[in-house]
Amino acid sequence: MVRIAIIGTGGMANDHAYKFQKMDGCEVVACSDILPGRAKAFAEKYNIPAAYENTQEMLDKEQIDGVSVVTPDQYHKEPCLMAIERGIHVMCEKPLAPNLADAIEMAEAARAKGVLTAMNFSKRSVYGTQKAAQMVRNGEIGRVVHVEASYFQSWLVSKAWGDWRTEEAWLWRLSTKHGSAGVLGDIGVHIYDMASFIVGDIAEINCNLKTFDKGVDQIGDYVLDANDSFVATVKFENGAIGTVQATRWAVGYTNVEHIRVFGDKGALDLNFSRSGAETLKVCKGDDIEKDIWQPVDCPETPSTYSRFVESIKTGIQGQTSFDTGVKVQRYLDKSFVSSESGCFVKVM
Ligand SMILES: NC(=O)c1ccc[n+]([C@@H]2O[C@H](COP(=O)([O-])OP(=O)(O)OC[C@H]3O[C@@H](n4cnc5c(N)ncnc54)[C@H](O)[C@@H]3O)[C@@H](O)[C@H]2O)c1
Repeated sequence: MVRIAIIGTGGMANDHAYKFQKMDGCEVVACSDILPGRAKAFAEKYNIPAAYENTQEMLDKEQIDGVSVVTPDQYHKEPCLMAIERGIHVMCEKPLAPNLADAIEMAEAARAKGVLTAMNFSKRSVYGTQKAAQMVRNGEIGRVVHVEASYFQSWLVSKAWGDWRTEEAWLWRLSTKHGSAGVLGDIGVHIYDMASFIVGDIAEINCNLKTFDKGVDQIGDYVLDANDSFVATVKFENGAIGTVQATRWAVGYTNVEHIRVFGDKGALDLNFSRSGAETLKVCKGDDIEKDIWQPVDCPETPSTYSRFVESIKTGIQGQTSFDTGVKVQRYLDKSFVSSESGCFVKVM
């Protein structure tokens, strides 16, 4: 039985608890949150035996094989390093850290201790993503030349998920002082990860980041200065070019990702609906002449959570690691640099 502890029991932790508890051979044995009473309420909701307000105490007292770190972005590093120090395997939410230097430090610490790591790039949990990457690697659409990748959300305009004007869970995502890298760090990480996983590593980035007027500059302690829209032109190492973009202003698209990959022998179209269900279509062979797109069957695939638990069981590093987190962090950092200069910036 793999024994997991959850650190940070806010919104996203619900997904972690539900997915870990659903799995055979895995139990959630403890949770922690610095907010008084929050971990206790979470433990009661999910029937978790132990709840703590101090993560260090939890790591010292409990028998734990792996932790999942679900704290806000700027608070990933400390609990990750605490677990790594104790030889506990770590899954971390995205982005790995608020900056590249911290991300590298975390990856190096994990390597030095020999602990297994995972990133919760959640769209890897989807068969369409895995299949699209496999089809590109197998050459099914030939040489990739052009890519269009977008992640659209609308929560700055709609209240479908709650009201950012009043709820802390949204407010920290709008404030650099609260550790947010804006829409780039929030969902840009997912679309950068998807594009690079499916197509290949990105070599150069020219990104335009924008923070639009929201009618209010500050709410309480939260200065609303984090970027909320970006468009990046990218050059992949394999020679393909494309755009990667994300926004929180996409009226009519609560939560939608879309990637189109065009090769010299065919094309792929991977689309995620608001509920997260995916549609993968391919156009190749004789269908190219008539623009006919064939649906690709998308059965279930192991989730990021089960890949992490499986890696603990087998001792074999899973598909994502802190090194994957560092790679995506580089894309974020270079996006900021290129947005300042207005020029293409090399990733390495
Ligand atoms: N993979 C995904 O698709 C996905 C989706 C949503 C959020 N996230 C990520 O999950 C993380 C958490 O987001 P959220 O929406 O749950 O935020 P949230 O604000 O709802 O919850 C964060 C919780 O962490 C607690 N916390 C803060 N500092 C802590 C610390 N040092 N130790 C222990 N607990 C601490 C807070 O009290 C809060 O309860 C973020 O990094 C976010 O980017 C990922």
